[in-house]
Amino acid sequence: TQPLRLGIAGLGTVGVGVVKIVRQKADLLSARVGREVQITAVSARSRDKDRGVSLSGYAWEDDAVALARRDDVDVFVELMGGSEGAAREATEAALAAGKHVVTANKALLAHHGQSLAVLAEDNKAQLRFEAAVAGGIPVIKALSEGLAGNEIKQIVGVMNGTCNYILTRMENAGLTYDEAFAEADGLGYLEADPELDVGGIDAGHKLSILAAIAFGTQVNFDAVELEGIGCVAIEDIRHAADMGYKIKLLGVSRMTGRGLEQRMAPCLVPASSPLGQLEGGTNMVVIDGDQVGQIVLRGAGAGEGPTASAVMGDILDIARGIDLPVFGQPANELKKANGTQGATP
Ligand code: NAP
Ligand code: HSE
Repeated sequence: TQPLRLGIAGLGTVGVGVVKIVRQKADLLSARVGREVQITAVSARSRDKDRGVSLSGYAWEDDAVALARRDDVDVFVELMGGSEGAAREATEAALAAGKHVVTANKALLAHHGQSLAVLAEDNKAQLRFEAAVAGGIPVIKALSEGLAGNEIKQIVGVMNGTCNYILTRMENAGLTYDEAFAEADGLGYLEADPELDVGGIDAGHKLSILAAIAFGTQVNFDAVELEGIGCVAIEDIRHAADMGYKIKLLGVSRMTGRGLEQRMAPCLVPASSPLGQLEGGTNMVVIDGDQVGQIVLRGAGAGEGPTASAVMGDILDIARGIDLPVFGQPANELKKANGTQGATP
């Protein structure tokens, strides 16, 4: 069997994590999928940076689009980030060339998910993004595969590790916002633009992706009602604690008679509830299905190892020849999602 050849664009927290797994676990991976998984070429902005991992044996491309089009790349692994520019152009170039794409980029999916899904289908390519939502938790697989026999009633969750880390460190250790933020940065949780995290936008991107799969709709990030944690003061956290509550940046999505509801905002949750007890960079997604009842998924939502784990899961699915629709059903069958914002109750 031919090896599966990867081209990795982006060698930051997640990209380095993926390189380490491919280098250190080669035998395990090939035993699992019955073929070798190789990295043939890589790309990042700076060629000279020490990344703490060997890149020997890999071709270097300065341009991610050139990497995506290389003949010796079967799967383009996009780990640069950003909804436009190199990430979008290279992803489109790879799909147009019929190459599979694995990405951790929720911003890209939230803004261009529908057109990318159509492009992937038209070119018989796979587009996979397990790492884009809730880091190491396989929530995309859960929704699109394991729970596919259910009508989904509701999704509720904490989906941003940075915000959960900051809120819990302020609460438990009495750190200032700035001190907790600096710790989250050191753990590799932050987006290149941290306002995406603390402004609730990153979590909103993730919620819009989950909602599309859960409710069979086109991704509609513009309709997410968003509020970040910038308005949360230490006094709010203390008052909430006095009443037996914690403050969490909580996402909620359900289909209503008025359209698709998608909200991401700081909420009070009972301190003794599973969501209230969620600490640090951990994420939790609670899914209600009409047949299965309630499923609770909990795990590391960010960081090198957990995110690289999810990227590898997608790569190994492709190595096994597993072929799945991008958002759980053919792109042309996804309904346009009307938001509930502004609707009269
Ligand atoms: P990061 O540490 O900032 O790394 C980004 C990498 O992309 C860097 O190696 C950078 O090159 C490279 N890059 C940026 N722009 C480029 C361009 N125009 N051309 C070529 N290379 C470019 O980011 P990260 O944390 O690994 O995140 C990567 C993706 O995973 C993002 O979409 C993020 O949202 C997503 N994600 C991250 C996490 C996490 O915990 N960190 C979790 C889930 C999903 P240089 O190193 O040379 O500057
Ligand atoms: N910045 C994101 C977070 C990374 O803190 O959750 C994982 O998507």
